[in-house]
Amino acid sequence: MAEKFLLRFEDVTADLTAIDAYESDGGYETVRKVLKELEAGAVVDMVKESGLRGRGGAGFPTGLKWTFVPKDTGKPVYLLCNADESEPGTFKDREIIEHDPHQLLEGIIISSYAIGCHDAYIYIRGEFALGYAVLVKAVADAAARGYLGEDILGSGYSLRIHVHRGAGAYICGEETGLIESLEGKRAYPRIKPPFPAVYGVFGSPTIVNNVETLACVKHIAAHGSDWFRSFGPESGPGPKLYCVSGHVTKPGVYELPMGTSLREIIEVHAGGLRPGRSLKAVIPGGSSVPVLTASEIDIDMDFDSVAAAGSMLGSAGIIVMDDTTDIVKALRTISHFYHHESCGQCSPCREGTGWLERILRRIDEGGGTDEDLRTLDHVAAGMMGNTICVLADAAAMPVRSFLSKFRDDFEAKILEGQGGRAVA
Ligand SMILES: Cc1cc2nc3c(=O)[nH]c(=O)nc-3n(C[C@H](O)[C@H](O)[C@H](O)COP(=O)(O)O)c2cc1C
Repeated sequence: MAEKFLLRFEDVTADLTAIDAYESDGGYETVRKVLKELEAGAVVDMVKESGLRGRGGAGFPTGLKWTFVPKDTGKPVYLLCNADESEPGTFKDREIIEHDPHQLLEGIIISSYAIGCHDAYIYIRGEFALGYAVLVKAVADAAARGYLGEDILGSGYSLRIHVHRGAGAYICGEETGLIESLEGKRAYPRIKPPFPAVYGVFGSPTIVNNVETLACVKHIAAHGSDWFRSFGPESGPGPKLYCVSGHVTKPGVYELPMGTSLREIIEVHAGGLRPGRSLKAVIPGGSSVPVLTASEIDIDMDFDSVAAAGSMLGSAGIIVMDDTTDIVKALRTISHFYHHESCGQCSPCREGTGWLERILRRIDEGGGTDEDLRTLDHVAAGMMGNTICVLADAAAMPVRSFLSKFRDDFEAKILEGQGGRAVA
């Protein structure tokens, strides 16, 4: 895929945050075409036919989710754009927001029209100060040109977009935590069902979609569902943003067809490892998903293929670790994050994340025992599937996978701490 869509700004010399530049490059023509030529239901059908699956982590089919919005409840319908992007190793949505915000606004307008929403919110993570400023300006500019507000382009359709800044908490990315936070409350996730599509923000039907998902909608509407399906596998196609960080020579965000091999992403696009180093581990989908070993990177990076390999595509945050990595320390760092970010509502998560971090700290600092390894796995196993949201699973999965795939590293550190010498 030589041509870029989501990251088009990388090849365009004009500043696409400026609405003049965006318009002169065909900007908002898709909104004009959709509002003039398509019924809302036809847009939903088009997105369903495209096979688009949500880019926020779970990979749920977007068009199908939209059909869960009940008709004629008499309540307003809301679209919430999830711009929280707090999963470690994930930094793709901010690229769209900071460099090409109008493509996101176009996606939001088209998606809102499809689901019958007249007030959409962009919930942006607190730390994204630049992204927030860019979005506020983009929304004002779009409204001034008649792409937002009452009777958009004479179509009779009206939409307002509100940009809402979070205070910076990982749990606010979980869709029901986000909803609570938007309502002005502490971001405690809600028990599902009812799902947001039926009972969401302010008690109304609500669709929560990720930034990249909504940006894809703009391109599907512009080029058609067949075009979208021409990239990657039938089970979840489209252009995809992969974030690559860690021990590679060219870390960054790469737009490639869904299903590009992990090896190709690391070795070709991200420039490969630093000279003289060998690969130790790769986390393929943000720090919460199971880790892969160096021998497991010949997989296609799409939802189903990564799941078949025992991990998850998640947010497509690829974290590469070479042979200089202290695996115990890496997991300790990950566990610190989830302990810090647990909202504390469910005891398995509130207590479990703390236990995991404390045991890992003990092992890392030389005071660990073999019993600690059994306890770690036991605690992590007990956290999974036992809480309101999956933050507990997000904390447990790396622990269980690091332990099962890199046990020697943990045992070596324990032995070293006990005054013994690790046998290679
Ligand atoms: C703890 C936690 C954090 C999450 N953080 C984000 C996030 O930062 N951005 C995001 O889009 N989805 C995040 N999600 C997933 C959302 O709950 C939701 O599935 C997603 O926004 C739906 O959009 P999509 O269907 O377009 O992927 C998170 C989920 C969990 C459990």
